[in-house]
Amino acid sequence: MTSVEAQAKLAQLRAEVARHDELYHRQAEPEISDYDYDQLKRSLADLEAAWPELATAESPTAKVGDDRAEGFQTYRHRQPMQSLDNTYSEAELREFDARLGRLLEREQLNYVVEPKIDGLAVSLTYEKGQLVRAVTRGNGIEGDDVTVNIRTIKTLPEILKVTDGAVIPEVIEIRGEVYMTLAEFARINGEREEAGEALYANPRNLAAGTLKMLDRAEVAARQLEIVLYGLGYCEPASAVGETQSGFHALVRQWGLPTVEKIWTPQGIDDVWAAVQALDRMRHDFAYATDGAVVKLDPIKLQRDAGSTSKAPRWAMAYKFAAERAETLLKAITIQVGRTGVLTPVAELEPVQLAGTTVSRATLHNRDEIARKDIRVGDQVYVEKAGEIIPIVLGVNLEKRTPECAAYVFPDACPVCGTKVVQVEGEVALRCPNFECPVQVRRRVQHFASKGCLDIDGLGIAMVDTLVDKGWVRSVADIYRLKRVDLLTLGKSVEKSTDNLLTGIEASKHSELWRVINGLGITHVGTAAAKDLAKHFGSLEALAAAGYDDFIGEKKASRINGIGETMALAIIAHFQKPENAALVSELRELGVQPLAPQAAGPEGTQFAGMTFVLTGTLPTMTRDEAKEKIEAAGGKVSGSVSKKTSYVLAGAEAGSKLEKAQSLGVTVIDEAGFLKLLAD
Ligand code: IVH
Repeated sequence: MTSVEAQAKLAQLRAEVARHDELYHRQAEPEISDYDYDQLKRSLADLEAAWPELATAESPTAKVGDDRAEGFQTYRHRQPMQSLDNTYSEAELREFDARLGRLLEREQLNYVVEPKIDGLAVSLTYEKGQLVRAVTRGNGIEGDDVTVNIRTIKTLPEILKVTDGAVIPEVIEIRGEVYMTLAEFARINGEREEAGEALYANPRNLAAGTLKMLDRAEVAARQLEIVLYGLGYCEPASAVGETQSGFHALVRQWGLPTVEKIWTPQGIDDVWAAVQALDRMRHDFAYATDGAVVKLDPIKLQRDAGSTSKAPRWAMAYKFAAERAETLLKAITIQVGRTGVLTPVAELEPVQLAGTTVSRATLHNRDEIARKDIRVGDQVYVEKAGEIIPIVLGVNLEKRTPECAAYVFPDACPVCGTKVVQVEGEVALRCPNFECPVQVRRRVQHFASKGCLDIDGLGIAMVDTLVDKGWVRSVADIYRLKRVDLLTLGKSVEKSTDNLLTGIEASKHSELWRVINGLGITHVGTAAAKDLAKHFGSLEALAAAGYDDFIGEKKASRINGIGETMALAIIAHFQKPENAALVSELRELGVQPLAPQAAGPEGTQFAGMTFVLTGTLPTMTRDEAKEKIEAAGGKVSGSVSKKTSYVLAGAEAGSKLEKAQSLGVTVIDEAGFLKLLAD
């Protein structure tokens, strides 16, 4: 390669890496797998090493990615947040140890091995033990202030716990990872699939997308989690002890969530054993673990080893390559969802992947197939996103035969033949026929399902039968079923018919949230349905609500848990004549949902309790908090005493907080308060 050729290749690789950085860090929508990205970056680094005179500080290999987004204030870290060097090879991990041994002139080094959580890095600042700020890594020097969103994490304490002997530093930056559990990822994707919305590729993208939402209520409706594992700035430095393993213990003592397990191996052989032990157990963790982080244990040696411009020399990530398989794409079938969305599905020659047999994988939508140029008859690569959902990564072009023709997405619904439409601003294609049998089936199935009306005797197969017979064409038709008709479904069906009719009758008096959930409003899941039921008290009131009933000044949501996106979806839902009609039809057919107790302004859950407010709350004014407490039957007092039930503390809380701590009064933050109110 000549210098000119190398220069051209470098420019091309740098542009490519920069594009993927942008997709991953800013948009949380990567196009390639982590492994492919790491390989691409590695080839760039290798080329730069071979041509040192062509290296530049502007190269993506010299910088950490940048996650800063529109709409957030930026904040400068007191100590820069670095990235980690990574490897997929045991030999390179051993080389890392050998290099450190030479640098520090030691025969054997002591390490900590921790899970590498696949989320996104944040830095929390606690001043005098109180959480004052949460900032994303950003470009390493300054990041986005996401304090309001971080405060929705229920397991994160606002105040560090003081136990015997533990010192609370004046100021400390604690680094960690925001993530979403695999269960929450599955829940949200499940709801999105039902509603025909695009699925998130993995929990990391979902967590990143959620943390960067501007609407706190939307963030609160999804459950983010956090683990803390690292030390940034600390004053006084002596407050945190001398080892990384000791720091973990301290973080736990303060009551902060920490990693599932750490190992403290001595020497590289033990390190490798620990990495393998982690690999065996990581599938049981609640979060996606994409590797092991190996760190020097003594903090003094960490300091001696120092860092490069982007990563410490004392730590290294060993990444577990995601399992991947190659198999034949036999066909592409089209599924029609409850809201008419057409989802293409890859029908695969069954193949073993990470412990299960995979024979189907989602292809997301038409654009995705076109972008990857996936064709029936191709050999395709499959991988499990977030270790659960199989996805088609791409095609092995070397094995493509000339007979493989480009895939043509159908322009009509495969079920009812109606011409499909593309809603503006959406990637999905939809069948617009509200009476399309699949849509009817799915709507009714959803309505009758466990999390909704939970109608005894009305399972998936029964719904199919009733829809096929033409007796059920809408949810309301469930309440029009006649015993004489049902008895014609077979011999000796009397008992099951009576059982079904009893189930249907009982469902007329279900809790209101179940009915709201059953309507299948886009974005509205169980939690939101409960919040809506509590607030509105009836279906009619919900259906009549306008924008101002949901959203107040400065776009602040008026209803706990309901943000603007949800509000708009609810309004749009009831604007459709068929949905509005369903509300009155249900009423006429005798469906009278039970309103939650204490609906209406006078609640009683805080009866007999006294609250003291201090500091600035992230989203509420003090008056708003006071109103909420009083509406729930509680009292607000100006001073803390032993009789105080709770101190509700916000940022820059003063002497009242100290008094509460000295008297042992429970201190809660806004998120904790909202949770109390909701319980
Ligand atoms: S230590 C200066 N420990 O992985 C050292 N990072 O690929 C900074 N990560 O930016 C990081 N789990 O966001 C560390 N146990 C762990 C981690 C971890 C996940 C993330 C972190 C980092 C990225 C590097």
